[in-house]
Amino acid sequence: MIQTNQAHIDYSELMDEIGQSPEALAKLKETGDYTGMTKSVKTILDGRNRAAAISSPAGSPSDPHLHADFHEWWIIMKGEVAYEIGEYEQVVGKFGDIVIAPCGYRHDIKPWKGDQCVRMVVGREDSNHDLKGLPHPRTLPIPDDWQPPNMIHTRLEWMIERHGLDENWGEEVVLDQRNRVNIIHTLPGSSNRPHWHPDMDEWWFVAKGEIEWQIGKDEPFVAKRGDLVFVEAGRAHAIRTVGDESSIRYAVTSPDVIHYFLDNPDDPRPPKD
Ligand SMILES: [Fe+2]
Ligand SMILES: [Fe+2]
Repeated sequence: MIQTNQAHIDYSELMDEIGQSPEALAKLKETGDYTGMTKSVKTILDGRNRAAAISSPAGSPSDPHLHADFHEWWIIMKGEVAYEIGEYEQVVGKFGDIVIAPCGYRHDIKPWKGDQCVRMVVGREDSNHDLKGLPHPRTLPIPDDWQPPNMIHTRLEWMIERHGLDENWGEEVVLDQRNRVNIIHTLPGSSNRPHWHPDMDEWWFVAKGEIEWQIGKDEPFVAKRGDLVFVEAGRAHAIRTVGDESSIRYAVTSPDVIHYFLDNPDDPRPPKD
């Protein structure tokens, strides 16, 4: 069983836990009854966000609603998921894409392609679905000159096209009251500067390659495409791209994150092993 805030959530284990059995999918094809076909696992609870991986087969009924008081966003983890956000035309997210519904924007989420359309929602612990049943007001095209951060739809493929895979790069793609999300590409052998954060849990989604994490004095582990990694406030973390291909990770922090570096003698030492 996957636990919330597990240091390392393995992608295939997570997909297995929220996947439907072949029997259940066969029954769905026969009856068209989607009752009980959506499954979810709460992955992260970091004091700012509640994140959960949600799996539904394509065609599952949607529940358009809006949140008046917070931004909600998603990372697509498997299959394809279509979104109507606010007045914009529908976008279809695939693995590694980020979709954002700014607060006050109606969102209609439609599991689009695949027996398992998986999105990880990043919302608030006290989120509610009271404002619902709203029609799509009109269809505006997505502006083609939008730049990060906070695009309605940030495609992983587009990020790779823009920056390439030949050198290290990072770009901020979400920045709001709760979060700063950086997409970070690093070549094999590259490491971060080991550090810790005094008051903020940090977590990552791995979109490509293999990355080794050393958290506190724990045994290092390697996370791969689709995996999630969590480190609580007060614990040092060192991150290194291993294997022969470059890696891409999404680092989720608070907007005003404080770093204390282990190689800086003037910085305090981490309070936790
Ligand atoms: Fe929502
Ligand atoms: Fe960090």
